[in-house]
Amino acid sequence: MYRTRTCGELRLADVGESVTLAGWVQSIHNLGALTFVDLRDRYGITQLAFNEDASEDLRQKAARLGREYVLQAKGIVAERYSKNKNLPTGDIEILVDELTILNESATPPFTIEENSDGGDDIRMKYRYLDLRRPCVRQNLELRHKFAFEVRRYLDEHGFLEIETPVLVNSTPEGARDFVVPSRMNPGQFYALPQSPQTLKQLLMVAGMDRYFQIVKCFRDEDLRADRQPEFTQIDCEMSFVEQEDILQMFEGMSRHLFKTIKGIELPPLPRMTWAEAMRYYGSDKPDTRFGMRFVELKCTQTDNASSETVDSIFPEGFAVFDSAAYIGAILAEGQASYTRKQIDQLTEFVKRPQIGAKGLVYARVGEDGTVKSSVDKFYGQETLQVLRDRMGAKAGDLILILSGDDAMKVRKQLCELRLEMGTRMGLRNKDVYSCLWVVDFPMYEWSDEEQRLMAMHHPFTSPKPEDIPLLDTDPAKVRANAYDMVINGVEVGGGSIRIHDARTQQKIFEILGFTPEQAQQKFGFLMNAFKYGAPPHGGLAYGLDRFVSLFAGLDSIRDCIAFPKNNSGRDVMLDAPGIIDQKQLDELSIGIVKGN
Ligand code: AMO
Repeated sequence: MYRTRTCGELRLADVGESVTLAGWVQSIHNLGALTFVDLRDRYGITQLAFNEDASEDLRQKAARLGREYVLQAKGIVAERYSKNKNLPTGDIEILVDELTILNESATPPFTIEENSDGGDDIRMKYRYLDLRRPCVRQNLELRHKFAFEVRRYLDEHGFLEIETPVLVNSTPEGARDFVVPSRMNPGQFYALPQSPQTLKQLLMVAGMDRYFQIVKCFRDEDLRADRQPEFTQIDCEMSFVEQEDILQMFEGMSRHLFKTIKGIELPPLPRMTWAEAMRYYGSDKPDTRFGMRFVELKCTQTDNASSETVDSIFPEGFAVFDSAAYIGAILAEGQASYTRKQIDQLTEFVKRPQIGAKGLVYARVGEDGTVKSSVDKFYGQETLQVLRDRMGAKAGDLILILSGDDAMKVRKQLCELRLEMGTRMGLRNKDVYSCLWVVDFPMYEWSDEEQRLMAMHHPFTSPKPEDIPLLDTDPAKVRANAYDMVINGVEVGGGSIRIHDARTQQKIFEILGFTPEQAQQKFGFLMNAFKYGAPPHGGLAYGLDRFVSLFAGLDSIRDCIAFPKNNSGRDVMLDAPGIIDQKQLDELSIGIVKGN
């Protein structure tokens, strides 16, 4: 037997017991006659002691040890003289009487401790060593528990876990596909699923009623902190349901996860329409851990976010505001003391190309209630008092204003400014969770690139029944039975009620610009299936990586993935993707590739 106990479990109550442990050398302390070795395994660290009484052979072995050697140590549990309060096993040590070196180790390229000295790249290259660090390992433990509780909840609610194939055709989630050449069908390719969307709908036609799958999805898109080219969904679908049934079921699942994993009782989730989210937060995934909703000071445009116009509170005089279609502001409470330098930093922040604002106007409310602003020369105190009242500002508050000629663009800029202020003001605490449903998404969004309407969710989403007449007259205004779950400004999941009759589906394809032939060629399998009694159905998918990283308080989903890809989509440990040899290319009927 390699071990009788683990390195994380021995306590004072075990003193006197003879044990065998196995693990890796975390550190070695040589104090002349005494040698201490910290032995690490998945469960913790236990101190091994080699004292004066140890045999010569044992001491020689101990002297040969290096970091990350793999050991088996047999000995007696003893109380420590100097205890280590930072370790759960810190009250005891093992007086070793037998030591076996199971394997040696090269010197690791970085220290395998809580705070490693290794940079990102080197830790990714040696990910198997990085994973030995408790903080990284804990994220995988959390992920396991999370997936386990998901299965428990869904099983209790009658969901069947069903696997769907990975070698499929293109699935329409809006990203590029990863493709796999088919040797047996020269010149033809499989696509890896961007999600099992159409397959789970077919499972509903098949009468499975409640399906789920914890499943890998593949999307060839630009990577960010919350995106990986392969990621995991908790994919779910239900038959004979309306939107309300789905929201209830999955609000229940979130409550179960928060309770069992974080010990948090989640209050009922508020619901916000997409229009409200865009109008007051400039985002379809608002971070509602803090307020700072937008106040509209002028809006001459109507759009999907707002059908109301708002008269300007500013009289003519300042050309930028005079010509703006939209002026919006946020209130940073108690921040009137912001220095010129801090304001300049904020101005630079909003002017960055990624945000694209032209400038930032600010107004400070003084202790006596008077308002001082960067546009003082254009507006008298009277106008600034109207501004103060409209903002609900008090003495000591700071008002930040953006304007522009496209309301939606300015809202998005204001969203970035709001998040930045939230961060600066310490309002985005990772231990505080604010969850909500965003509902009533528009069916379509205009794509400048494609010069046509595109499905905002995917083409199988059903329109809201009351908006169906608009399909013929003003499709851009049609709202969908689609919903997202948002936590702390992160879209953790989303789904919709699906279209289940072939005729409506055909019409939606038409609006998306597919000819009947194209629709048949791409989605004929689904439309055909719909001819054979498709039940009303709907569902959603959560991003498992995103949900887990929120629970773990991580900045990037990479940290809860065992072997993630870097920002160029590479696995630097495997050195993938890589070149394949000509023979393999020939077999796949793929021509000569440059560089081969
Ligand atoms: P959607 O495309 O919104 O919906 O994806 C569902 C959830 O998956 C997560 N997600 C990602 N996570 C990490 N990296 C990525 N590249 C990535 N892309 C998406 C997000 C997102 O909310 N078939 C539909 C679901 C449905 O309608 O049932 C779908 O895939 O958390």
